[in-house]
Amino acid sequence: MDTPRIDLVLPSLRCPVCTESLTREERTVRCPGGHRFDLARQGHLTLLRGGGRAGQGDTADMVAARAAFLEHGHYAPIAEALTQAVAAVPAVTDDGAPLLLDLAGGTGYYLAAVLDTLPSAVGVDLELSTYAARRAARAHPRMAAVRADVWQRLPVATGSAAAVLSVFGPRNAPEIARVLAEEGRLVVVAPDQDHLRELVGPLGMLAVAPDKAERLTRQLAEFTAVDEQVLRYRADMSRADVTHEVLMGPSAHHVDRAALTAAVTGLTEPVGVTVSVTVTSYRAGRVPAPR
Ligand SMILES: C[S@@+](CC[C@H](N)C(=O)[O-])C[C@H]1O[C@@H](n2cnc3c(N)ncnc32)[C@H](O)[C@@H]1O
Repeated sequence: MDTPRIDLVLPSLRCPVCTESLTREERTVRCPGGHRFDLARQGHLTLLRGGGRAGQGDTADMVAARAAFLEHGHYAPIAEALTQAVAAVPAVTDDGAPLLLDLAGGTGYYLAAVLDTLPSAVGVDLELSTYAARRAARAHPRMAAVRADVWQRLPVATGSAAAVLSVFGPRNAPEIARVLAEEGRLVVVAPDQDHLRELVGPLGMLAVAPDKAERLTRQLAEFTAVDEQVLRYRADMSRADVTHEVLMGPSAHHVDRAALTAAVTGLTEPVGVTVSVTVTSYRAGRVPAPR
């Protein structure tokens, strides 16, 4: 068997049951405490206590919609902004192979873009959905896909990550602070109030909560923002892109499919859609770093 990508990052991964280090033999990863985890045929490793239920995280249909949407490049400027933010992280420019984590990284689209520009870096997409992890496992030669629950203790060594990415996903602040290296940074992409404003009302999508920015500030109260970029542009989407955009996120659980199809059919292509997100870099701790 080819050397699995998981070997690139295994020294930084930890047993989700007892936090011991892990080693691999063939398709089995184990810790000295006797806990065993199988490497899936599709390449991802599940590091969940109890193995994790199938069907957790995004569904197969949501993940397929996300992959189809992202491949058309409408969010490439977000990937570019993330890439720039990560390139500025002090711990990323250190010698060695900096470790990048993408929490709830989905298909691995953003982490792959960042790794493309950092030839010595390695990455892990920590994702609950089996379907997303399968895609992330083949997203980049220096990326491993690990099924993990970001609300639990992360199966990652303390102080090991040069950068943690969080793009439109759940964030567990204490765990992020624990896994970040001293000069490491958390880079968050969060939607602004007018993100996708042309689609939200007409297509019955979930709106960005009015207190989203305050909630983020509260959630990351133990972090200090060191850089912020508001990214706002118009994306010209096809009707298929619009449908994928709706069905790749939480709105998929709420929209009526027949009503969505009817509404999308009535749109004139290209559909001009506002993309509006804020990309913020944080360091752990409340006190500003000495200069
Ligand atoms: C809105 S998507 C964002 C995915 C990716 N960051 C992107 O923007 O392409 C949210 C992702 O969080 C994952 N997710 C949800 N709950 C999770 C959890 N508790 N632990 C890890 N991933 C989770 C979903 O499976 C989904 O892939």
